[in-house]
Amino acid sequence: MGINIDEEQLLFHLQGKKTSYVMQVTRDAYLVHLYWGKRVHTYRGSNKIIFMDRVFSPNPDPLDRTFSLDTLPQEYPAYGRGDFRVPAYEIQLDNGSTVTDLRYKKYRMYKGKPKLKGLPSTYVEDENEAETLEIIMEDKLLGLTVTLSYSLYEDRDVITRSVQFANRGSQNLKMLRTLSASVDFRDDEYELITLHGAHGNEKNIVRREIVPGIQMVDSCRGASSPQQAPFLALVRKGTDEDQGEVYAFNLVYSGNFTAQVQVDQYRNTRVSMGINPFDFSWLLEPGETFQTPEVVMVYTDKGLGDMSRIYHELYSERLSRGLFRDKVRPILINNWEATYFDFNAEKIEQIAKEAKQVGVELFVLDDGWFGKRDDSSSSLGDWVVNQRKLPNGLVDLANRVRNLGMEFGLWFEPEMVSIDSDLYRSHPDWCLHVPDRPYTLGRNQLVLDFSRQEVCDYIVKGVSDILSSAPITYVKWDMNRHMTDVGSIALQPERQRETAHRYILGLYKVMEEITTKFPDILFESCSSGGGRFDAGMLYYMPQTWTSDNTDAISRLKIQYGTSLVYPPITMGAHVSSVPNHQVGRITSLETRGYVAMSGNLGYELDLTKLTLEEKEVVKQQIVLYKEIRPLIQFGRFYRIFNPFDGNEAAWNFVSEDQSEAAASYFKVLSEPAAPLRTIKLKGLHPDYLYQNVETEELYGGDELMNIGITLPIIKQDFVSMFWRFKKYRM
Ligand code: DGJ
Repeated sequence: MGINIDEEQLLFHLQGKKTSYVMQVTRDAYLVHLYWGKRVHTYRGSNKIIFMDRVFSPNPDPLDRTFSLDTLPQEYPAYGRGDFRVPAYEIQLDNGSTVTDLRYKKYRMYKGKPKLKGLPSTYVEDENEAETLEIIMEDKLLGLTVTLSYSLYEDRDVITRSVQFANRGSQNLKMLRTLSASVDFRDDEYELITLHGAHGNEKNIVRREIVPGIQMVDSCRGASSPQQAPFLALVRKGTDEDQGEVYAFNLVYSGNFTAQVQVDQYRNTRVSMGINPFDFSWLLEPGETFQTPEVVMVYTDKGLGDMSRIYHELYSERLSRGLFRDKVRPILINNWEATYFDFNAEKIEQIAKEAKQVGVELFVLDDGWFGKRDDSSSSLGDWVVNQRKLPNGLVDLANRVRNLGMEFGLWFEPEMVSIDSDLYRSHPDWCLHVPDRPYTLGRNQLVLDFSRQEVCDYIVKGVSDILSSAPITYVKWDMNRHMTDVGSIALQPERQRETAHRYILGLYKVMEEITTKFPDILFESCSSGGGRFDAGMLYYMPQTWTSDNTDAISRLKIQYGTSLVYPPITMGAHVSSVPNHQVGRITSLETRGYVAMSGNLGYELDLTKLTLEEKEVVKQQIVLYKEIRPLIQFGRFYRIFNPFDGNEAAWNFVSEDQSEAAASYFKVLSEPAAPLRTIKLKGLHPDYLYQNVETEELYGGDELMNIGITLPIIKQDFVSMFWRFKKYRM
């Protein structure tokens, strides 16, 4: 196991517990992709590349018409010397040409996994957890060195890839495309899975056939976006939750991305992923380097469920950082849907008192506590307390909440500025903009130019001052509009297209600084809900507000789709009031509770308006959640019924030692002549005897998994059921 290298043949075999990834240098020059899939003990080249003369496929070697880059499966393909498929990179030279030619130079291998400078990435805590192979390619004419990094987490069956460009020549290199990974598959017998959405309707799973040509998801919005996610998976036909081959790619990046699949003329399939080349370029001066973000690649032949669990474990254990990585997360109440902007200290205290009585652990004061903000038209950037709403200040309010026995958390939207703000009045040019053109507003606000150091410094100071001024233990970091008028007055004309990526680098630096300065604060990221729910943000902030849509039935799909890549512990999920504010639906408090309890539970409603009975239900929910919280937040997650396929959803959680499990079932609409349904649990120990905690009935793990539980016919819409099992010790 590990990274095995045949020096003579320059053959590199990355061998995980269950996976193999093989590549080789051919003709002393080209790095060829040979295999990725189920583990093989030793690669001896049974799947030889058949070289033949193909019409329209050009030949870099004048003496060999059978060799063409157009048909060669490659690791990091270029444009210009015969490969007409999607290139992994493209560079413009001083003479205007974009033809480059990377050749193999050498390799380096070492234990562990280095950090990526300025970028989030998965990590190791012990150098024996992973091995890293760097393959160094070179274009001698340009003095360009490109280092392809591959890290193998042997035990996890994960390979990560990233690329570093170094300009060791004497001319400026204008990089037009710098993708993080490219993989060539030798057939097209796959279906493509991607995640699509919109505000309030994030992470819909779309599965489709792949066809000749390019199929792509991307973002040019300046954020990973709710519209498309930086994730794709190729699956064999017939792959489902429990079986079948999956090749998955997820980019650890929060800005503009591209994720594409191209089927070529001979039915080969190329997957490419990285920073979106659209409206991007980067001027690499002599002596400079450029680092791409990381792609996390997962292969399994055990279906989508296994793929998700591999991502979940890696992201919970080796992407997420800080004090809260391994800690159960507090049950919070957020005042947004309870009050919106219309609150004062008394109102907040009333809600907080009720919250304490039902067992909530953290009160989060949302938007509207600063400047003179009464609606979305003002004050972003003025991070000083609103004296009218909170005349005794934040410290007083935070202390009142703390005296009740709860922690206190606060909302910020640090990346934005309102035109009606002191910040804008003093620095009208601190936003992204193009001189002489009018600004384009989004939610009445502008995007601060985080590519500029002085802007970042100002925000770090403003946010830090508030955080040090009061006993705050949680921050909700929001971001509510996408980038327009993308330009920075701090950059030269030839660097304007660097702005969006420089912004993300600035944001990462700001988050690194603030989270390091305040290690005891739990940070939750948010972008009008799940608009920037990505692996890049999870590196700095271990949880994300999954969606502004708090309707339990909508959430079935949103949370199910999000779980494809991200673990339940990262998903903020709140019980809100009915009729639901986003879709108007009325669902029971039980169903709202079981949906929210499937993630990181919180409440977002005016508790003072609940009846005594309702408060009692909430209290019981919280008692239950506190008991199952370690299981939900640190257990393994199994999807059972897919809400995208029909009228129901189900999933279950199993503790690592398989001694505990919890399962939830949701039926959307009641049906006439409904079929009898059975829910079969997953991931239990087949030989354990489990006891239903509520009814005390005993069942074998094999029985619960193979035979399952028959569900009653329920004549009602939006119904939920919940079971809890514990290993029975005789
Ligand atoms: C968008 C967030 O998703 C909401 O939860 C809330 O914080 C608002 N912003 C506040 O403006």
